[in-house]
Amino acid sequence: MKILVNGGAGFIGSHTTVELFNAGHTPIIIDDFSNSQKWIIDRIEQITNKRPKVYEGNCTDINFMDDVFEKEKDLEGVIHFTAFKAVGESIEKPIPYYKNNINSLLVLIEVMQKYGVENIVFSSSATVYGDPDTNPLTEKSPRKQATNPYGNTKLIAEDILKDTVISRAKIKTIPLRYFNPIGAHESHLIGELPNGVPSNLVPYITQTAAGIRKELTIFGNDYDTPDGTCIRDFIHVVDLAKAHIATLEYLQNQTSPFFDVFNVGTGKGTSVMELINTFEKVNNTKVKYKIGPRRPGDVKACWADTKKVQNVMGWKAQKTISDAMKDAWEWQKTL
Ligand code: WQD
Repeated sequence: MKILVNGGAGFIGSHTTVELFNAGHTPIIIDDFSNSQKWIIDRIEQITNKRPKVYEGNCTDINFMDDVFEKEKDLEGVIHFTAFKAVGESIEKPIPYYKNNINSLLVLIEVMQKYGVENIVFSSSATVYGDPDTNPLTEKSPRKQATNPYGNTKLIAEDILKDTVISRAKIKTIPLRYFNPIGAHESHLIGELPNGVPSNLVPYITQTAAGIRKELTIFGNDYDTPDGTCIRDFIHVVDLAKAHIATLEYLQNQTSPFFDVFNVGTGKGTSVMELINTFEKVNNTKVKYKIGPRRPGDVKACWADTKKVQNVMGWKAQKTISDAMKDAWEWQKTL
């Protein structure tokens, strides 16, 4: 299948582009490189021996998007990663978040309708479950009001896609609710490239181990969990990338209009402390850390029930937390 990958030079986008090539598909990247690097494209080529075609531009620009669809007539689907994703920044600058994350989706749906492209995989997030009452989370668990504009854009985007399907437009779509993506490609040629001081845990761990950051702060060890630190469902980015290929292949066999949501996690909760301990053990290195206060907006625990994606699509995470911690460290050492 010829697949448009919006945000294909980003963390999840680049790994998905590699897996699309591995599965025999033809990925075409759109990226404005505002939060990604051009050399990632060379790295994708180094890994796969294939170079994806790249259109440099912004997905909110309808003329640009129309032009891409005009040139790429036989597209069979789109994976839409394009989004701003820094939770804290979204509270300070809500408008760019709404503008970028929502407009890009609206423009995309409009051009897809115009050119008769039906399949769209959308990057949603476990953030739509808010602070869950129980774990693991199934797709039937209630969505909760978002605590920040970033999270709200994911709720709104899911609703936009659902309403478009309800209107009986010719569209087939699956928002994938990602849990916490971590790790890097096993070649260590691509991985996460945070902008400035990382707000996510794993890049903070690797940068601290590398001496770029002085010390990691664990945001609270007084939660009602076995070791007092928060619990998340950390999923290796390569497993997550593969879930997109399974989703596209599944969507291709559905009839239009179609909407469904799927969790993409491992089904296993790991605490912040356990993750740090695993990092130190598998890499035989130390991470300097201290315990700090809780971070506002953090939920105590959040992990996925993965039965639906496993039963319906036959996808299951294969890699372990240890694999992810090794790959994240090997990648960090190349930077
Ligand atoms: C994980 C745990 C922190 C940093 C967010 C978004 C989500 C998704 C992924 C992406 C928490 C703790 C972290 C640190 C720490 N969005 N932590 N010290 O908050 O689960 O999810 O990122 O695009 O939508 O909400 O991920 O990696 O920030 O935090 O102790 O320096 O690590 O408190 O318990 P989170 P995270």
